[in-house]
Amino acid sequence: MAFDIDMIKKVYATMAQRVDKARELTGKPLTLSEKILYAHLWDGTPTKSFERGKDYVDFAPDRIACQDATAQMALLQFMQAGKSKVAVPTTVHCDHLIQAKQGAAKDLRRANETSNEVFDFLGSVSNKYGIGFWKPGAGIIHQVVLENYAFPGGMMIGTDSHTVNAGGLGMVAIGVGGADAVDVMAGMAWELKFPKLIGVKLTGKLNGWTSAKDVILKVAGILTVKGGTGAIIEYFGEGAQNLSCTGKGTICNMGAEVGATTSTFGYDDSMERYLRATDRSDVADAANQIREYLTGDDQVYANPEQYFDQVIEINLDELQPHLNGPFTPDLATPVGELGEKAATNDWPLKVDWGLIGSCTNSSYEDLTRAASIAKQAVDKKVKAKSDFGINPGSEQIRYTAERDGILKIFEDLDATIFTNACGPCIGQWDRNDLKGEEKNTIVHSFNRNFSKRADGNPNTHAFVGSPEMVAAIAISGRLDFNPMTDTLLNEDGQEVKLDEPAGIELPPQGFAVEDAGYVEPLVDGSGVEVSVSPSSERLQLLTPFKPIGDQIKGAKLLIKAFGKCTTDHISMAGPWLRYRGHLDNISNNMLIGAVNDFGKKTNFVKNQLTGEYGGVPDVARAYKAAGVYSVVVGDHNYGEGSSREHAAMEPRHLGVAAVIVKSFARIHETNLKKQGMLGLTFVNESDYDLIQENDTFNFLDLDQFAPEKPLNVEVVHDDGTKDVIALNHTYNHSQIAWFKEGSALNLIKKENAS
Ligand code: F3S
Repeated sequence: MAFDIDMIKKVYATMAQRVDKARELTGKPLTLSEKILYAHLWDGTPTKSFERGKDYVDFAPDRIACQDATAQMALLQFMQAGKSKVAVPTTVHCDHLIQAKQGAAKDLRRANETSNEVFDFLGSVSNKYGIGFWKPGAGIIHQVVLENYAFPGGMMIGTDSHTVNAGGLGMVAIGVGGADAVDVMAGMAWELKFPKLIGVKLTGKLNGWTSAKDVILKVAGILTVKGGTGAIIEYFGEGAQNLSCTGKGTICNMGAEVGATTSTFGYDDSMERYLRATDRSDVADAANQIREYLTGDDQVYANPEQYFDQVIEINLDELQPHLNGPFTPDLATPVGELGEKAATNDWPLKVDWGLIGSCTNSSYEDLTRAASIAKQAVDKKVKAKSDFGINPGSEQIRYTAERDGILKIFEDLDATIFTNACGPCIGQWDRNDLKGEEKNTIVHSFNRNFSKRADGNPNTHAFVGSPEMVAAIAISGRLDFNPMTDTLLNEDGQEVKLDEPAGIELPPQGFAVEDAGYVEPLVDGSGVEVSVSPSSERLQLLTPFKPIGDQIKGAKLLIKAFGKCTTDHISMAGPWLRYRGHLDNISNNMLIGAVNDFGKKTNFVKNQLTGEYGGVPDVARAYKAAGVYSVVVGDHNYGEGSSREHAAMEPRHLGVAAVIVKSFARIHETNLKKQGMLGLTFVNESDYDLIQENDTFNFLDLDQFAPEKPLNVEVVHDDGTKDVIALNHTYNHSQIAWFKEGSALNLIKKENAS
């Protein structure tokens, strides 16, 4: 679907030369991850080797993908850049804003009513700026990307953490915040700390009830939710080659659950089969010509301990099917042991729902394997004890599965076929079988199972498994059911056993679809009007931030944040997600989760102009209305968590001139810089203790703002005494230019105009 074979051929044309050069510079054989990274340097051919886990490197990704929730602010910002088109092929996918309730047709109609203005906005911006647009119902971003855009050896970024799914087709695909995506759309480099590398050697072959999902459920148990942080996980070995391409996608998808930067597999026959089955034989032909550059070097895989930072080995012959959970995806339990564990932990054994699909597990192979279990239940007259819900990953999958009678099998079990969208996986699920917050159990083939994730109920115990295991457990209605050993009672009172699942990797008659839901943008979109109603609650066009200037005097302390202050404390999620495209409305959540050091309460700070106390956003607005800048003070690792750009845009919008902390989480620090404000750290950490509730800040030497030169601020206390505090910063020349222009986008726009 409008993938860019010329772009892919261009990447391949330079791959060999760049990889050979990197091999020479590093003086060693290379992993696949390194090959892809070195082949995508912003400056082209490598000139030096990089230290993993240390060096920050500028990259040039080949593609960008955005989902509807995160795309709103990303595109609003991009519109500020003054460009007529995106610099890199980009797609937008409407998948997060569709609630699952009554089934696809009704749910999609309702979503089109309730989120119409957001979809229209995304569609018109896409059309104007040359972005491929996937309509609501077209499918889930990562499944659509795998079917249409992912290619071996490519690099992509996406504004969703499961962008990593494209590693199943041999990419380095990484989830980023909107601000990073905007940079790349606007033609700038994308910066990443050169990742560490974890090698996972797979031997043997999957068999019986074990599936690709169990590989990552096992890896999650080994690495835990933080074990992959800052690393790319690279899978290799004969076991890897024995997996289907979509199975590899499932494994890469859930790499996000161990915190990995991304995961990937070397190009092999399974990928070639998948490319040809999805109408991309030209990509397969091109990839075949540089095959050895699209996988790790033989020496690396022969001696992995020597070349990876960590190596894990899994024998697929012996791997057991797992169910992971509840409440965390790394609590891995082999299915046969779950009954005992559930009893010990008092997890409800009755299973209320089995949910199959999502971006993690909705391939043809997944659906056929799950259907092979569902069909047995129908044939053997076993009635499903739990409710079934299916979320196909794309319209192409749904259409093909319907044509091949797969959906009919689920419908015979009274399953509800939801829209090709995220639905229950992102809490977009109007579950009607519970009255309140009853303790209950569900099983699903998704990736995340944190508290409240699927249905908002903190007492829902969600377990993650393969689609076929979810089908078996949901049919039995019991968490302690082990289909490998246990029997079920059918309608005739007979004991029956489920046979092992059987799946089909790719549809024998090929994939088919009538309307995939794709809208190709206009070649010249200059005439397209992007309309946003001024009265909209959900969308607001941005206006460029005015430069703060080099004379910040009389700025008032807004809040002295005490202890942990993550991006969630700065810009909460939950119900606020609705306002992601409306900066002024979402700013009403600014720092409402942060604890004020004075009084140790949240969202309760002093307005120095009136002496009264109020919520943080209200007090900030009062300062802004009075033409007074404000200052936020914080503790260590301020802004850790997500890369959410709202956490930097909101303070900027509400008149905060500087954020002064003991230390920053790096991405948030960069986001503050991009929005044209000051992100500074105390030279002496203990100066944090000097800050008092009624402090006023006068910056003394901001007119001499220069790289590696600390700044000084005079802090005037209530009693008239003063402290001059030295502040470090990490601004380079171009980041200082962002500050001077008011934001990075203002600078891009200016450069564009000149
Ligand atoms: Fe959507 Fe869930 Fe995947 S929210 S993108 S289906 S992880």
